[in-house]
Parts: sequence; C-alpha cells; structure tokens
Amino acid sequence: MTQTLTIIKPDDWHLHLRDGDTLQRVVGHTAARFGRAVVMPNLTPPVTTAMAAQAYRQRILEALPDDTTFNPLMTMYLTPSMSPQDIVEASKAEHVIGVKWYPAGATTNSSLGVHNINECTETLEAMAEYNVPLLVHGEVTDAAVDTFDREAVFVETILDPLLHQLPTLRVVLEHITTSQGADYVSSQGANVAGTLTPQHLLLNRTSLFQGGLRPHNFCLPILKRESHRVRLMEAATSGDASFFLGTDSAPHAQSAKESDCGCAGIFSAHAGIELYAEAFEDAGSLDRLEGFASKHGPAFYGLPLNTDTITLARESWQVPESYSLGQERLIPFRAGHSMRWSML
Ligand code: NCD
Ligand code: ZN
Repeated sequence: MTQTLTIIKPDDWHLHLRDGDTLQRVVGHTAARFGRAVVMPNLTPPVTTAMAAQAYRQRILEALPDDTTFNPLMTMYLTPSMSPQDIVEASKAEHVIGVKWYPAGATTNSSLGVHNINECTETLEAMAEYNVPLLVHGEVTDAAVDTFDREAVFVETILDPLLHQLPTLRVVLEHITTSQGADYVSSQGANVAGTLTPQHLLLNRTSLFQGGLRPHNFCLPILKRESHRVRLMEAATSGDASFFLGTDSAPHAQSAKESDCGCAGIFSAHAGIELYAEAFEDAGSLDRLEGFASKHGPAFYGLPLNTDTITLARESWQVPESYSLGQERLIPFRAGHSMRWSML
C-alpha cells in the first residue's frame, strides 16, 4: 500500500511571484499546495505602500481561477522614505502582513533598499507600536565581508543591536542559512522567528560546484557548508515554533541564471511541499512536518490554521527539465530528477 501523509494545508511564509506574464505562469504551483503565501515586494519598482500591495494582491488573484481559495499575504518594501504613517496604514490594511527589509545591494532587486537601518528608526518604532512584523534579509553588504560570513556578521552586528533597541519588535529572519542564524532565533523570545527554505535544508555549498559551476543552485544568502545544513535541519525538525516554512521560490529566466553575472534565486514552487517532505523523511521526522509547514507560521502571525488538508503520497514523479516562461525557460529545482513525494 502506498504510504500517505495528510496534514493541515501548509502556508509558504516567503515567496517571490514577480508580476505580469511570469506571475501568471508560476502562481498556480503555489496555489495548488499552499493556503496562503507571504509575497515578497521586490518588484521593479518595488511595492512600497499598502495601496500598491493591495493592487499587487489583486493582480495575483486575477492570475488564478475565480474559485481559488489561495490567500496572498502582502509585504511592503522598506525604504528610508517609509514613514510612521505608512506603518499605521499597513497595520489597518487587511491583507498586508509585514514590512520587508532588504539591505541595499544584498540580493535581487534590493538596490532601493536600506543602506543604514538607523535611517528607519522612527518607522521601526511605529512597527513595534502597531505590531507590524519586520521581515529581514539578514546579510551585511560590506564588500569586505566574505559572502559566506554575511549572515552571521549581520546577526551579530546589526540584528542583535536592533532587537536590543526595540525589544518588542516582531522579526522574521528570512531564509536562515547558518547555525548562527538558527541559534540566534531559537535563543530569542516569541517575537523572533525564522523561515527555512528547501534548498538550505537539502543542499550545501558543495552543490554549487558539483562537476562544474551550478547556477541553478545559486541563491542568496548563498548555500553554506554541511555543518550549517545539519543545524538548519535540526531547527526545522525540532518542533520549535520559532521556525517555519518559507520556500523563497524565486523564478528567473534561464538566460538570466546561465550568464556571466547570473541572478540569485531558485524556483521551487513546483515542489514546494514535496521537497520539505523529503528533507523531513530523511531526518526521520515526518511527524514534525505539519507543525513546521502548517502551524508555526500562523501562530507567529496570529492567524487561524487553514481548515482544509493536503495529502502527500510516497510516489515518485519526474520534475520537468524546464517550464515555459513565454519566450524563455524556467529551470526548476531538481530539474529532470525525481521526487519521492507527490501531491494527491
Ligand atoms: C530572491 C529573488 O530572486 O527575488 N533571490 C534569492 O536568491 N533568494 C531574493 C531574495 O530573497 O534574496
Ligand atoms: Zn526571497
């Protein structure tokens, strides 16, 4: 008999959907698996106001069938010109869930982000007061800091001082990649949480160089060494409610990835829950998947659990070599390889 696993419908707490034609092509993968997703605001131009976030949400819903139950939760892109009044508006906007902090230059479409977080103090104070979470891309951008050290240095020199300054601010350290990031989140109170991606649970930095340079395994923060992956798996499967699912699925055209200056980002929405099922199965912790994927995120954000369920079957399937992206192709995570778990 096929082994199956039924869990409360999961949510993706960190997702890139883009806009226009790419949005149309990718959003169905997420809506087929997840009840809700926190949609990142790093469009060009970025989504900086509650009004722009609502309009973007409408475009996402229009890209789905009329009877969809998928609920996009929106974020606003922090810039030095965001004001406390913008935060008041965000706190009132029904579908806006938080503000995303991209250190300027840290990753894809972050050039309009924040150079010095001290420029945003009043806005952050308003976020603490109005209970609006700060979603953090946790890397320093100083060229003198080694790429592999940027998260650990950020946690110690930027995030920890900020939380000392604003101890009630609710913070999500997004896509944690290091033991330092995981240790920090688990050592903090209930106002600090972290998301974990499938690639950082399943791969280590050697996967960037397996038989040659592997641009489709390149994302930011960059994959780290095996000891970090082991710590992230331990965090994900620990049952600690500070950690929850965030795929960071980030579609880029094949030509933009396979380039002399390739974009950072891994597309994983096509297998957004199945990849985690493999990771948790490898750890002998399938019983902990539901907490991580379906319960800890809603608890942090103060939202109800989804009322429906999904069922995964231990039946293998082949990931396509690529998906269409109009004139371009989109190379998915595990392209051409098999997955152990499938959605029923
Ligand atoms: C993301 C993207 O492509 O928008 N890329 C990535 O490598 N993760 C941005 C981000 O989350 O850093
Ligand atoms: Zn991201």
